Amino acid sequence: MDIKSAEQKVAELHNLLNQYNYEYHVLDKPSVPDAEYDRVMNELIAIENEYPELRAPDSPTQRVGGNTLEAFEKVAHRTPMLSLGNAFNEEDLRDFDRKVRQAAGDDYSYVCELKIDGLAVSLRYEDGLFMQGATRGDGTVGEDITANLKTIKSIPLRISEPLTMEVRGEAFMPKRSFEALNKAKEEREEEPFANPRNAAAGSLRQLDPRIAASRNLDIFLYAIADVGETGVVSHSSGLDRLDEFGFKTNKERRKCSTIDEVIEYVEGWVERRPDLQYDIDGIVIKVDSLELQERLGTTAKSPRWAVAYKFPAEEVVTRLKDIELSVGRTGVVTPTAILEPVRVAGTTVQRASLHNEDLIREKDIKIGDYVVVKKAGDIIPEVVNVLEERRTGEEQDFRMPEECPECGSGLVRLEGEVALRCINPKCPAQIREGLIHFVSRNAMNIDGLGEKVISQLFQEGLIEDVADIYRLEREQLLQLERMGEKSVDNLLNAIEASKTNSLEKLLFGLGIRHVGAKAAKTLAQEFETIDTLMDASKDELTAINEIGDKMADAVVAYFEKEEAIELIGELKAAGVNTEYKGPKPVKAEEIDSYFAGKTVVLTGKIEQLGRNEAKQKIEELGGKVTGSVSKKTDLLIAGEDAGSKLAKAQELEIEIWDEEKLLEELNR
Ligand code: IVH
Repeated sequence: MDIKSAEQKVAELHNLLNQYNYEYHVLDKPSVPDAEYDRVMNELIAIENEYPELRAPDSPTQRVGGNTLEAFEKVAHRTPMLSLGNAFNEEDLRDFDRKVRQAAGDDYSYVCELKIDGLAVSLRYEDGLFMQGATRGDGTVGEDITANLKTIKSIPLRISEPLTMEVRGEAFMPKRSFEALNKAKEEREEEPFANPRNAAAGSLRQLDPRIAASRNLDIFLYAIADVGETGVVSHSSGLDRLDEFGFKTNKERRKCSTIDEVIEYVEGWVERRPDLQYDIDGIVIKVDSLELQERLGTTAKSPRWAVAYKFPAEEVVTRLKDIELSVGRTGVVTPTAILEPVRVAGTTVQRASLHNEDLIREKDIKIGDYVVVKKAGDIIPEVVNVLEERRTGEEQDFRMPEECPECGSGLVRLEGEVALRCINPKCPAQIREGLIHFVSRNAMNIDGLGEKVISQLFQEGLIEDVADIYRLEREQLLQLERMGEKSVDNLLNAIEASKTNSLEKLLFGLGIRHVGAKAAKTLAQEFETIDTLMDASKDELTAINEIGDKMADAVVAYFEKEEAIELIGELKAAGVNTEYKGPKPVKAEEIDSYFAGKTVVLTGKIEQLGRNEAKQKIEELGGKVTGSVSKKTDLLIAGEDAGSKLAKAQELEIEIWDEEKLLEELNR
């Protein structure tokens, strides 16, 4: 084939593939079988291989391209990506309508849309070509995720007109893809995603676009950010234009001329929400006329011309079959409801923590009861209440045992706590949970050592404490269930790699009471090696800002124990690093700056710098930025339109600067 005919053929194949793609992914109406699509795609790939100069950036072959990124670049949005005010009930919706009517008189209408539960993105087209896609970020600056967005097949790489514009929409993971992904993750003993939204966000935040490509994401576009060249005068005609350009928009939208119609639409979707192929978390109601939108304007955060109705958390009824007890790492015994499996807010729920005996009494929960279940924050399953009217008399009262269900030693209730605890340090459940904690992500992060493998190793007597992990041998691991050569190699590599972790990961992993990941970091930064920390007195510990009495006592008590000293010795002998490797924080007193050690409050509009940047700069110079003015405040920076904080600072005779003065000092 000569280059001329190759060029012609390429154009032809582009059109064909774009058409197939559009029919399949946007219209959901494929016109050819998959095999035909693959055949045409392979033909194009072959020509592009022969004539690489014909490989255009919008070629259908270029959806998954490029290399793994180092990090995402920042993108400043040309028009800010605002969020929406919320409405939780009919009254809130009528309030919103009243305000619109005050500005509009009687002549206005709304567009109601599904509020897709995914990730807001902005797509920029130049001369009709998809050039850049970004996350919302803080609304002003987001991250460049173009390579990942290109893998979403319903995003056109070129639109039907050569326009330069930005469009906005919601990228999401359909329920079915989410379930398949989590199933695969569970088979690999990886932590599943909590919900489709997290899965979509996690996929788009991958530096390797091949991962995003494997995740079957989709998108609905819901706005043209800057209608400029398009000649659009209403939101609804904007959506129609998006359709014409070749974008995927959501077809369930409806124009409503009264708030009663809006409410009817909302109520309809409360019922029909579970039937959708994707998750929604509410309904967005938007004023249709763009002229009226402009007149209504926006507040600092959200437009006055739109509101998001948020669905109440979904509640379902199921039977509580049993109450199981589990012993945690710190010995706390927690009752868990075992439920007849039921779908709630996108996933199947079969367990819900009941926290403690008091809560079971309070809610009067009996084994065999029908209960109402919801997901708090749409993530954590919770038993809301019991349906007493459905009792048959067969239900059984539940009592917490007096002995640890794992080791049989007596349980105690520590002063001021509702929880029952097993205080036997040799309790196998506590040891096992401690091991699981040690290898978890924020601790030593040993990939491939999931709960199941740890439990097996523990049961077989191959590990008894965390130092044993570093003594595991190939042959021992090969004997475990479902551990082939490859997994064993990977696991041994992960164990080896964990030896080089910085001290804070080890400290957190040890599971010292009251020492969370953040405190572990502070301790590691301050003491630098585990030896200095082990020698630290309570006074030395509490001298650190973030370390209180309780934590200091716990740290001292931990390192006083013979077993702890022995364990640290064994870890060191195994080659585990016990030093802090991160950057050393500069002490506020050591910084030569006006702000060092001062407490600063920002108020009003900080126009040139923006509030976040101003805060960051002051903190870099050793200042502490807090939210409210008090006697402890040293300095108030008052921008445009400062209000009550300024008045309070004046009353307390606190030093006050304007933004000019701040800039001057920062540039000094
Ligand atoms: S309009 C200025 N329409 O909800 C208004 N948002 O807080 C811009 N969302 O982060 C948003 N579906 O990502 C709009 N049909 C829809 C939406 C939608 C989901 C998300 C959006 C934003 C959040 C609003």
